[in-house]
Amino acid sequence: MSLADALLEWYGREARDLPWRRTRDPYAILVSEVMLQQTQVARVEPRYLEWLERWPTAAALAQAPIPDVLAAWVGLGYNSRALRLREACAVVARDGWPDDLRTLPGIGPYTAAAVGAFAFGRHELPVDTNVRRVIERTGFDPGDAPSPDLGQALMELGAMVCRARDAACATCPVAATCASAGRVEIAPRRGAGAGKRERFEDSNRWVRGRIVEALATGAPLPEGIELERLERAIESLVRDGLVRRGADGLSLPV
Ligand code: ADE
Repeated sequence: MSLADALLEWYGREARDLPWRRTRDPYAILVSEVMLQQTQVARVEPRYLEWLERWPTAAALAQAPIPDVLAAWVGLGYNSRALRLREACAVVARDGWPDDLRTLPGIGPYTAAAVGAFAFGRHELPVDTNVRRVIERTGFDPGDAPSPDLGQALMELGAMVCRARDAACATCPVAATCASAGRVEIAPRRGAGAGKRERFEDSNRWVRGRIVEALATGAPLPEGIELERLERAIESLVRDGLVRRGADGLSLPV
């Protein structure tokens, strides 16, 4: 059996039942993919369901007030992603889905291929880090017209079996045709952050998130953020157009 066949068979049998795998709605799939770009599956799942309940269509999201969208995005990563998702939905609500999804605001080649394959059934392969790693290790050639399910199946294998730091070759469904079965080398962590990863609470992204949350919901800022760090985060939010500095202080764009 070819690697693709073995993989798809395994995926059909073992895939996690994730809510975005039960739909072909391009809006729902777009929401899931943007959320999944920075946040783990388990954390995305409830947020995705809440989001779709609140804004079930691209048109609904396009009309949502920006502070509401930012407040609903808290904890899901860069706020600019939420704003660009809303902008993309405004284009879709006005003009429909374009043939080339990359023309939508904030949609790069990965997201375009994911929505193309999972919603529109196109023969495209969304290549994220999991997919790239599995392809490199296995030596699999997806060809010019990969089956629309192949991306999900490769992602699933990368998340559940062929993991970055732990390849479970003994239970892998494609071990028989994998170029590195049983001898995957896990490279030691490298780079400045190796071994002493920054706490998320110390990151600029976290401070930015707390500022936007405070402006969107009125929640107080957590105590203990250094003033200089706060100022730097505000500067970067203003620069990115996510926060406005006016005579009355800071506000969210309207
Ligand atoms: N990560 C990114 N896209 C995903 C998807 N559709 N399913 C599971 N994990 C993902």
